[in-house]
Amino acid sequence: MRGPEIEPSIYAADFANLGRDMATLLDGGAKIFQFDVGDGHFVEPITIGPIVCQAIAPLFSEKGGILDVHLMVDNPEHHFDAFSKAGADHVTYHHEVVGDPAPLIAHARELGMTVGVAFSPQTEPEDVAASAGDVDLVLCMGVHPGYSGQAFIPETVERVRRLRELLLPHIHIQVDGGVGMENVRELRAAGADLFVAGSSVFAHADPVAAYLALAKAVR
Ligand code: DX5
Repeated sequence: MRGPEIEPSIYAADFANLGRDMATLLDGGAKIFQFDVGDGHFVEPITIGPIVCQAIAPLFSEKGGILDVHLMVDNPEHHFDAFSKAGADHVTYHHEVVGDPAPLIAHARELGMTVGVAFSPQTEPEDVAASAGDVDLVLCMGVHPGYSGQAFIPETVERVRRLRELLLPHIHIQVDGGVGMENVRELRAAGADLFVAGSSVFAHADPVAAYLALAKAVR
């Protein structure tokens, strides 16, 4: 994964036209897409799983796209194999449900995937940085995980700043939830380089134009 980059969040897409809309954004320049997995337990909604990842993976492979799977689930390690087989390039687990991350990180790498840790608004950046191990990225949630279209939590900017001071320079900081033109520059300045954008891309009349405007704002 290379930043700075805007990651359209598939969760906010039109699932009746998923392949078409993914192809349009890939052709428009988007490279990394977030694939939000909800288990109906760690988060309230049940969202999408390996079968959807498998359906779009050939398109991503053909167009050089990257599938970044955000596991908003309990027991994330139970799903690494299935998503790897389904074509995932990256998996992110949640700090709140994992004690010792070392086995998960090793497992993801054995499967050829990069790996990240996400933390929710109730978790302190210091706690997740202390146990981040040798992940490739740390995902700072801008909303409470579960749904697209929520209001951005403003304290997220300061949390990103604190996190940047704690992490080694090669570890990406990703922000996910409520990201848009009104906050993406501030988040970039605070030290984030990967930005997940759901409704700020897919609720726009022209998602490619929205993606390009956000991408320009962080470069
Ligand atoms: C929230 C998800 C986010 C969400 C982003 O639980 O993890 O990725 O889809 O959507 P927006 O950008 O609309 O908040």
